[in-house]
Amino acid sequence: MKSVLDFRRSPERKISMVTCYDATSAAIVEASNVDCILVGDSVAMTMHGHSTTLPATVEMMAFHVAAVRRGAPTKFLISDLPFLAHRGSLESTMNAVRAVMVAGAQAVKIEGIDGSFETIKHIVESGVPVIGHLGLTPQSVHGLGGFKVQATSQAAGDALLEQALRVQKAGAFALVLECVPSEIAARVTAALDIPTIGIGAGPACSGQVLVFQDLLGLNASFKPKFVRKYADGFTFVTEALNRYHADVIEGTFPAPKESYAMPTEKTQGPSTEPVYSTVSKEGHA
Ligand code: KIV
Repeated sequence: MKSVLDFRRSPERKISMVTCYDATSAAIVEASNVDCILVGDSVAMTMHGHSTTLPATVEMMAFHVAAVRRGAPTKFLISDLPFLAHRGSLESTMNAVRAVMVAGAQAVKIEGIDGSFETIKHIVESGVPVIGHLGLTPQSVHGLGGFKVQATSQAAGDALLEQALRVQKAGAFALVLECVPSEIAARVTAALDIPTIGIGAGPACSGQVLVFQDLLGLNASFKPKFVRKYADGFTFVTEALNRYHADVIEGTFPAPKESYAMPTEKTQGPSTEPVYSTVSKEGHA
């Protein structure tokens, strides 16, 4: 998936999305079949160790978007607008949009719709694709009284559906639904023309998104119900580190093949063979 035009809902084909925050992981996603990448403001939690997404800033998002773009040059890439970035003046909102788009994003994700309809419309009319985000919106964690499943009553489900229709009307090309009952997500998905991307929202959504670290099991202590762990990355990496440690302690690393031998007298002089390249995909690092 290379552009917003590929981002279509289809009864035959769901959309897969994964979060990503750095160039190394992005290169792995680039090599995978996963459709598209979200540089989520969850970066504040997964990469910076915060307990909420609130400390994410526009500068932080742009920094990580640029790194991900270098690692994944062809995947469709969405950036979150972080906490309150779209709630100040239109000028500051557009500066935030510009920062993440210039860094390499092809779309922005915006949490919530109440009070943001005109802003989303303006961003879309400026030529920037927007994906909405409703249900559990982590930037409102304190307003919601914690990270809790949303729309758990018929009335709250009706309100969510009405919000979703407004997100669509504002011009969003898709909608993330986070932590809502499957029945509500199915209702919203059926009512919309744009695709829904679920996380903890059941199987009826048009696609799914998971956090890279969660699906790879890199965080041993984080296991919400909606995550499926496709690998035990924590154990895999810890065991590799322990093997490296043991080799160093025992003196078996580095071996001769991992070391440089002194050139023979004939070949002595400045080395001509680079140890590794200094040229990145974009030119010189
Ligand atoms: O920030 C994020 O990673 C997200 C996804 C979980 C949807 O918003």
